[in-house]
Amino acid sequence: MKADTFGRFCSFLEQHSGILLSRDKQYLVETRLSRVARAQGHASVESLIETLLNRRDRSLAREVVDAMTTNETLWFRDVYPFAALEKKFFPEAVAAKKSNYRIWSAACSTGQEAFSISMIAEEQRVPFSLDIVGTDLSEEVIAKAREGIFDDLSLGRGLSPERKRQFFVKAPSGWKVAPQISRRTQFKVGNLLELRPESRRYDLVFCRNVLIYFSRETKAKIINRIADTLAPGGYLLLGASESLTQLSDRFTAERLPTGGTAYRLKD
Ligand SMILES: C[S@@+](CC[C@H](N)C(=O)[O-])C[C@H]1O[C@@H](n2cnc3c(N)ncnc32)[C@H](O)[C@@H]1O
Repeated sequence: MKADTFGRFCSFLEQHSGILLSRDKQYLVETRLSRVARAQGHASVESLIETLLNRRDRSLAREVVDAMTTNETLWFRDVYPFAALEKKFFPEAVAAKKSNYRIWSAACSTGQEAFSISMIAEEQRVPFSLDIVGTDLSEEVIAKAREGIFDDLSLGRGLSPERKRQFFVKAPSGWKVAPQISRRTQFKVGNLLELRPESRRYDLVFCRNVLIYFSRETKAKIINRIADTLAPGGYLLLGASESLTQLSDRFTAERLPTGGTAYRLKD
């Protein structure tokens, strides 16, 4: 692929998704887009990209951006955020006598994070109604999350046999999340670059393992928009290797009793 084509594709991808590719990631573009190129009848990925950049084809643009996302996720990822639901966030909601609690799983991939949150709520028998909204840029992963069916391989990543037995029912093509877990979740396609103000704010936002793909400027913009979606005193949780350092002054960092850090919206 010509360096110029690669450069123009990188600008396109960042503009549509925020995802920033370094110069050495040409192989990644070739690997991720070869299936789309074949399906669209192109002899090479370069030819697909030229078509993409020269035509305003929104459905092709969506398909290409979708193929460039990294959707790696697992159940109860890093453990401590989910233990913190039990030890801190849910007890605080009970103490505040909340009748409804809202959690946003931003960049939720295939939904494991949202379903893990719901499993903790089920185990804790929380006395309030809980809404968990999962959003992701990729239509493909949102369709999978809505379906809620997982194979043994993906269930083996972070889910205990006990929880599998309790919270899944056998389906012809795998295991389906049981209704008592899925009833609290809803999944929507949503781009973090196009965040709009919500009519109802969130008490807690999980935005984990996605900011790593963005430039500092994009991260700061997204964090500030997330701050606008939080209820007063609401919390933001990032991935284990991510932090808000020098990105926003609207939060106070709090060490969690279960390890890791939560960011509380300043009053
Ligand atoms: C590595 S996964 C992380 C999934 C989950 N949050 C976790 O920590 O396990 C990153 C997800 O971010 C999504 N993503 C990337 N850019 C995005 C954007 N601009 N808006 C919304 N989601 C995005 C990808 O589609 C992918 O599913």
